[in-house]
Amino acid sequence: MKAPDRQRQIYVTGISGKKPIIPVSMTELEARAKQKMSKEAAGYVIGSASLETTARHNRSAFEKWQIVPNMLVDVSERDTSIELLGKKLPAPLLLSPVGVLDLAHKDKDIAVGKAAANTGIPFIFSNQASTPMEEVADAMGDGLRWFQLYWSKSNDLVASLVQRAEKCGCQAIVVTLDTTMLGWRPQDLDLAYLPFLKAMGIAQYTSDPVFQKIMTQPNDTPSPKPPITLKTLRHIYQLMSNYPGGFFKNLRSGKPMQAVSTFINIYSRPSLTWEDLAFLRTVTKLPIFLKGILHPDDGRKAVDYGVDGVIVSNHGGRQVDGSISSIEALPKVVAAINGQLPVLMDSGIRGGADMYKALALGAKAVCIGRPYVYGLALGGQQGVEEVIKNIMADFELTMGLSGVRTVAEITEDRLNV
Ligand code: FNR
Ligand code: LAC
Repeated sequence: MKAPDRQRQIYVTGISGKKPIIPVSMTELEARAKQKMSKEAAGYVIGSASLETTARHNRSAFEKWQIVPNMLVDVSERDTSIELLGKKLPAPLLLSPVGVLDLAHKDKDIAVGKAAANTGIPFIFSNQASTPMEEVADAMGDGLRWFQLYWSKSNDLVASLVQRAEKCGCQAIVVTLDTTMLGWRPQDLDLAYLPFLKAMGIAQYTSDPVFQKIMTQPNDTPSPKPPITLKTLRHIYQLMSNYPGGFFKNLRSGKPMQAVSTFINIYSRPSLTWEDLAFLRTVTKLPIFLKGILHPDDGRKAVDYGVDGVIVSNHGGRQVDGSISSIEALPKVVAAINGQLPVLMDSGIRGGADMYKALALGAKAVCIGRPYVYGLALGGQQGVEEVIKNIMADFELTMGLSGVRTVAEITEDRLNV
């Protein structure tokens, strides 16, 4: 549906007193999702690192550039589509990998996968998903999907995850580089809340044959020994219920505890370097994208080390407080890469104008994170679809009203700095 038809549909439906079930305003969307989620879930999803300066800056930095529209251009046809990795996308838009989606809605990754497939937008499966990738892929039919990898301490596990992704039809592997450790997140710390300790967000691991083997081996992470209170018992109950297999079976086997402690022990490898990337090449033929690139030198290295693309991202401000905003990093990384690789971008994208500016500054496409999670929290699959359609409509109108008919026409000279 074209943007003016979507507007018309909303306004005409309004005559009968019906308002959009998912707020179109991004501020309202976040506010309503915050109310809907538990305090812990909202803190985890909305929260960022430390003083949350980076998250704010991801937004305010867009104001550095302004769109300068051109008039008297025939914009009756507006083509927002692009081609990425040989596939046609309806807009230069993807869904960023977001872990622990069961914090937002019981239909979690499946709802997002179906919404992505219905709208033609690729979904990047998170390594910290709440649903095994095979189940989401099944639910998506031919829908486009990629897989995001956290490089764990075990190369066997890395190989297994990547090969599963290949088997279930993922088009690319996205290696996230900026989360070798979790950032300092006061909202979660003040609630003393980490979903992984409840066996949430570890479905890619617990469904993995290599992980299941590693689980049975002794590891050097001491089991957490919190004081026993009613809350501790509730935690144990949730842990047993969240883990696949059923409450009583899990209580007897003790597997959920083993899985959580194994996960904590091996989920990341802070010693990872550029040289390790060669290993990934030996275990997959899929294109490899590096997510979390901010420094131009790293952009150049991405070219030198032979990867297939980068995602300029600061993880939505969740990792390094006071870091450069993603939109400011983008043109510098683009210049360093000099057309040799596709550059995607996320962190702070909330509307059509943001997409337009990112494309003008050299991004091939952008990704959104939190906005679709808010849609998920408020309306499951339909909520995610509404958010995607709204941002696509906003982008189409921004193009047309700026005198632009195709994405290729969005060039840097259409911006004022
Ligand atoms: C994330 N992000 C993320 N990134 C990643 O590579 N793997 C992951 O599992 C997650 N998990 C995750 C959970 C939650 C709750 C959030 C909010 C984010 C980061 C994500 O992919 C993306 O970089 C940011 O969300 C983009 O910023 P915006 O759009 O949220 O501002
Ligand atoms: C996060 C991890 C899961 O940002 O990437 O919470």
